[in-house]
Amino acid sequence: MNILLTGGSGYIGSHTVALLAGAGNHVVLYDNLCNSHADVVTRLNRIVGRSLVLVQGDVRDADLLERTLQEQRIEAVVHFAGLKAVGESVADPLAYYDNNVTGTLCLLWAMQRCGVRTLVFSSSATVYGDPQYLPVDEMHPTSAVNPYGRSKLHVEEMLSDLAASDGDWRIACMRYFNPVGAHESGLIGEDPSGVPNNLMPYIAQVAAGHRDRLSVYGGDYDTPDGTGVRDFVHVADLADGHLAALNYLGSSEGAGWHAFNLGTGQGYSVLQVVREFERASGREVPYEIVARRPGDVASSYASPDKARLILGWQARRGLDEMCASAWRWQRYGERL
Ligand code: NAD
Ligand code: UD1
Repeated sequence: MNILLTGGSGYIGSHTVALLAGAGNHVVLYDNLCNSHADVVTRLNRIVGRSLVLVQGDVRDADLLERTLQEQRIEAVVHFAGLKAVGESVADPLAYYDNNVTGTLCLLWAMQRCGVRTLVFSSSATVYGDPQYLPVDEMHPTSAVNPYGRSKLHVEEMLSDLAASDGDWRIACMRYFNPVGAHESGLIGEDPSGVPNNLMPYIAQVAAGHRDRLSVYGGDYDTPDGTGVRDFVHVADLADGHLAALNYLGSSEGAGWHAFNLGTGQGYSVLQVVREFERASGREVPYEIVARRPGDVASSYASPDKARLILGWQARRGLDEMCASAWRWQRYGERL
């Protein structure tokens, strides 16, 4: 299949490119490189053993998008491109609505004009707001607690309206829980600029000696050890989930709008992750428990049953592999 991956040189996009290209698809990366490097494509070329196409462009550039869809004879789009930092979205909401909502709208117009109506969208568990019950299934009410989350929710609603208006659209919203880990080759991984906001890259930098200690946000939650519990899911499993979604959308069942959780169904606490990372790296990860981070919930984990039953997808990699691959990337990834 000919597949366009917007945001294809980013963290989750690049792992999905590796999988889809490795499976023999013609993949085209479309990225403005605002949060990634063209060098990722060189590394992807090494992984897949051939030269991939990167179109450097913005999803808000409708002309370039249309040209790319037509010239590359694209049949399906996986839409990763977007901004994703919660704090930044609170400080600069317009940038988030512009990039995430207007950007998606532009993409949809271009797809419609070019007759491409199969789309897999990167959504997030953030659309569930504060979980009202656990595990969170796809029937859980949606809400948003910050502009980033609202931008994802707006897009999901837009996609649902579009699918309801025209039965030719085939759309899957993939609601990722907490993506972590890196490619088994050690060639690609998460590369946050500045101080990492998220747990796993922060721990990796502490283990590597780049930061003194981890601040654990809250030790008095109603969880087994008092620290926050999340559903960490290996990025390579997420890539498998996108392949499964594309296969499903292409099947006789695939018409319409669908939402799928991508998580393991298993929650791990911050301190469990610290201990597992120490085991994987052989390094100590000093930490101190500090005040809760505003906006955090005690626990969040998925019911992955719908993805298993309908897509035939299930996360296969455990916390040990998530930590080991994140550590391999932290140690060796930059040396290439
Ligand atoms: P990332 O920042 O590594 O990748 C996003 C890519 O999109 C980057 O390469 C960036 O340069 C590109 N991009 C951004 N705006 C663009 C635009 N207007 N035009 C073209 N390219 C643009 O992020 P990621 O972690 O790989 O996330 C991918 C998607 O998954 C995002 O939509 C994000 O909101 C969503 N998501 C991520 C997580 C997570 O924890 N990483 C969780 C849930 C959902
Ligand atoms: C974050 C995003 C969420 C997004 C999700 C997907 C925020 C506020 N939320 O969720 O919108 O959908 O990623 O990946 O950014 N922690 C520490 N110390 C740290 C960092 C984190 O103790 O330095 C704790 C947090 O309090 C939390 C857990 O680790 O309990 C996971 O945090 P994080 O990796 O930031 O992910 P989420 O907050 O779950």
